[in-house]
Amino acid sequence: MKIFLDTANIEHIRHGVGLGVVTGVTTNPSLVSREGKVDYRKLVQEICAIVPGPVSTEVLGQDVKTMVTQAREIAKWADNVVVKIPASLEGVEATAVLAKENIKVNFTLCFTLNQVVLGAAAGATFVSPFVGRLDDIGEDGMGVVSDIVEYLDYYKLPTQVIAASIRHPQHCLMAAKMGAHIATVPYEVLLQMIRHPLTDRGIERFRDDWKNVMAREELL
Ligand code: G3P
Repeated sequence: MKIFLDTANIEHIRHGVGLGVVTGVTTNPSLVSREGKVDYRKLVQEICAIVPGPVSTEVLGQDVKTMVTQAREIAKWADNVVVKIPASLEGVEATAVLAKENIKVNFTLCFTLNQVVLGAAAGATFVSPFVGRLDDIGEDGMGVVSDIVEYLDYYKLPTQVIAASIRHPQHCLMAAKMGAHIATVPYEVLLQMIRHPLTDRGIERFRDDWKNVMAREELL
């Protein structure tokens, strides 16, 4: 499973890419707004220059014409930019238009397999089920991811699943077990993924045992 960072924070992106594990980034208007007042295009281009793979950037329009116009503009910003289009009826139509122009779409804000069926049929490169937000309303976010993976596999469709709205390491673990192609994770979750108290204790014990051996040898 590939790891993308779900952030627009340059420092965090640099760190994740520097670790050698983050190959893509997903942003949305809420994440960009957290970075303060920014030049949207400049920020996205800066992110695209750091990240080796796809960088998803959301359109703000809601009707087909505005979404398509904005997407065409965003697609010119960098070679690795992907346009995020919401899973509305207008979004389906916009995705179909853009896919025919070879503009890569991340069909986002997906909450059901039916939405994904339409997004994939329209030619979306990625679909993003929002796991945490489904859990928030008492539904089974990971169950939806599992259904989507099974569906795309069964019909051998090229669309890739990005498990999104990831809130904790358990979500990543489940996404990996279910065969999601990608998990897009907040920076804090990326850091949590590697942590385990037994690893820390093991490192400490190996270091102490080795120190004891060295000390004994010095006495001989
Ligand atoms: O990738 C989508 C994500 O940014 C939404 O996350 O935590 O706001 O549901 P959240």
